[in-house]
Amino acid sequence: MLTRSQQAAASLPPPTADALAFSAALSRHISACISAADGWIGFDRFMDLALYTPSMGYYSGGAQKFGAEGDFVTAPELCPAFAQTLGAQVAQLLELSALQIVEVGAGSGQLATDLLLELELHGVLPERYAILELSGELRARQRATIVLRAPHLVPRVLWLDRLPDHFDGLVLANEVLDAMPAHLVLWNGGAIAERGVTVDNGHFAWRDRPARGHLLERAQALATECEIVPGYLSEISLAAPAWVAQWAAVLGRGALLLIDYGFPRREFYHPQRCAGTLMCHYRHHAHGEPFYLPGLQDITLHVDFTAIVEAGCEAGLELLGYTTQSSFLFNCGLTEILARTPVGDSLRYLPLANAVQKLVSPAEMGELFKVIALGKGISEPLLGFVSGDRSVTL
Ligand SMILES: C[S@@+](CC[C@H](N)C(=O)[O-])C[C@H]1O[C@@H](n2cnc3c(N)ncnc32)[C@H](O)[C@@H]1O
Repeated sequence: MLTRSQQAAASLPPPTADALAFSAALSRHISACISAADGWIGFDRFMDLALYTPSMGYYSGGAQKFGAEGDFVTAPELCPAFAQTLGAQVAQLLELSALQIVEVGAGSGQLATDLLLELELHGVLPERYAILELSGELRARQRATIVLRAPHLVPRVLWLDRLPDHFDGLVLANEVLDAMPAHLVLWNGGAIAERGVTVDNGHFAWRDRPARGHLLERAQALATECEIVPGYLSEISLAAPAWVAQWAAVLGRGALLLIDYGFPRREFYHPQRCAGTLMCHYRHHAHGEPFYLPGLQDITLHVDFTAIVEAGCEAGLELLGYTTQSSFLFNCGLTEILARTPVGDSLRYLPLANAVQKLVSPAEMGELFKVIALGKGISEPLLGFVSGDRSVTL
């Protein structure tokens, strides 16, 4: 009988022999980690190994990930208008805090490059643009992008290995929270299990065991807050709220500006979303089989924005705004940015208008993607949230 990941493979574009060998090596490594852990690891560990094992994981290996040749397209990859529009909010936050940016998980470096060029245009260049990136391969790619497109700005850019001890300024992260490893939890009446990964007949397989510790506490709390029906399977990210709390501890005056897809808690754990939000991306095909070719596909989950706000506020941050990507971009002047390209210049205008449509359309990224700002020492209303602020839903 075919495993579920073999069934998934049948409907997806076939990988090359080299890619298969790369994935097989990572699978052997993950299997060895499972054996070393007495035959079972949590899904968070599986996701971490699949995405971030040095030089073997999806993000830390050499595969083309972003853009048309890769597996998925992020907003900064769609068109420079995303970063240019974001520039207005970034400029305001720099003026209210300090002229420093840390971008976390900078992907191919497109956002960093377009944002720096836009800030330069308005005379508000940060003194330092630091990038905190887990993947050595992506660091090299980010540097190459900036060297190619904005060589004169390279001296302002540096790469960090860890969070600074103290930071004033702006922390920016686009589609990073969704790439942080999460636990899988199964609620069955009073019994709450953690769904983890084992090896069965040489293949990865699911195995449940009773949830414990902090994860169990979180799962129990969710069962009292939300309508969790028996058999409900979903994700709990402990990593993303912990990461927000880490930033809160080092932030003096400034803000975290986070853009990602997800929902407030009651929508995230809605009875109809009873199989969770876990999603894999391979060559622009989205599917739900995380065991399919580890290292060759992205594994993501949606963000519980209520958990992000709770973690930030408990750690001393204030919620500065929460809205949809569409409202945020319009508030920041997307229409004016679009108007920079003459309609008559159809070769440039039509692809740009098409990309902008993807950024704001409710059927694409406009509603599912949210922008959230959490900060310290910022009292002025933020430009990106002047209308359409949905903080009240959190
Ligand atoms: C989906 S990609 C998004 C890339 C880019 N921001 C964009 O929008 O195109 C996720 C990125 O987050 C990075 N990442 C995930 N967790 C991270 C963490 N804890 N610290 C730093 N980078 C992280 C990954 O290495 C990858 O670069």
